[in-house]
Formats: sequence, C-alpha cells, structure tokens
Amino acid sequence: MEAIRNLIERTSSSHLALPIPSREEMNTIYAAALRAPDHKGLKPSRFIEVSGDGLEKLSNIFSSFAKIKNPDIDQTKIERYKKMPYRAPLVMVLVSSIVENKKVPEIEQMMSTACAAQCILLALNALNYSGIWRTGELSFNKEISKLLGLDDNECVIGYLYIGTDTGPVKNIEGNNLQDFVSIWD
Ligand SMILES: Cc1cc2nc3c(=O)[nH]c(=O)nc-3n(C[C@H](O)[C@H](O)[C@H](O)COP(=O)(O)O)c2cc1C
Repeated sequence: MEAIRNLIERTSSSHLALPIPSREEMNTIYAAALRAPDHKGLKPSRFIEVSGDGLEKLSNIFSSFAKIKNPDIDQTKIERYKKMPYRAPLVMVLVSSIVENKKVPEIEQMMSTACAAQCILLALNALNYSGIWRTGELSFNKEISKLLGLDDNECVIGYLYIGTDTGPVKNIEGNNLQDFVSIWD
C-alpha cells in the first residue's frame, strides 16, 4: 500500500534545500533508476550528479552556453544562467547515451532515460526528499552536450533539481478518469 501511495501522492517541488540524500541513499536511488524499462537491455541512461563545488562548474557551463547562443547577451541575463544550478543543492543531469541498434531507435532509448528519471523522483519521495524535472533550452542540444563533455552519441534529456522540500504542501487535484481512460471489454 505504501508503494501505491508513493505513486499517487508524489509531487514535484521547486523549493529545495539541504539536506540531500546520503551516499547510501543515492546508491538506492540509482538502483531504482537502473530498473527502468529498457528495450534490449541497451542501458542507455547516464547520470551526472552535481553538488557542492560541482554546482559552480555547472554554473560556468550554463553561462558559457548563454554566451555561445547569444554573443551579444548582456551581463544581467548571463547572471540568470549562472544562478540556475543553485536552485537546488543537488542537480542531476539526465543523459541518454544512444546505442546504435536496428530494433531500438533513439526515441525509445530517451524514453528509457525518462522512465529512469521518474524512478528517481519516486525513490526521492519514498526517502522523504523531493525534486523537479526541468528541461528548456539547456536540454536536447549539441552545444550543451559539448560543454558538459559528453560524447557525440549522448544527449541531455533534462535535469532533476533535488533536495528537501521546503515549500507549501501541494494539493493534488483529482482526475476524472473517464477523460483519460477508454475501457474495451
Ligand atoms: C520532460 C519534462 C520537462 C519539464 N520541464 C520543466 C521545466 O523546464 N520547468 C518547469 O518548471 N517544469 C518542468 N516540468 C514539469 C515539472 O517537472 C513538474 O512535473 C510539474 O511542475 C508538475 O508537478 P507535479 O509533479 O507536482 O505534478 C517538466 C516535466 C517533464 C516531464
């Protein structure tokens, strides 16, 4: 029953602070991530875990990206990019490492990493932490992959901002299942 409550009641939060999961808890979280569905067992998902001084490194990468994208960008806007990684004490870069395979196209491998991301969010919730998945222009492009030092076959599908939820409790709206479910019997 607890497992079902975790699925039904998990929410995202953008109000994230310390503490972050311990090393042991992170190992559990990765074990959950690596149980994501994975066609042909290609193991396409990679994770870059960024915290502490690593956040400054990511901050510099984000500002370099902003300058490459718009060489005329003003300092105020650059600062906005620089601040992004500090929205949480831990940022996880979600990477799909695409394996050439006739039966498993790129999209399926990215979907597998997306499933891994949801496994991570659920594991965080089960351990009393929280997170939010963000994408935007810092995902799905070659420039950010290069700046992060990824290989040519690797793609950033998003970022999980992770920490302890310090925000207000979110109300979960009930859904009218008839709007989403067709039953053929
Ligand atoms: C692929 C994907 C990309 C997302 N990108 C963003 C984003 O860039 N910024 C943002 O505020 N929310 C983004 N979201 C939505 C949040 O992660 C979250 O799902 C939403 O705030 C709803 O919160 P809930 O999980 O509590 O229902 C994204 C969600 C997904 C699945």
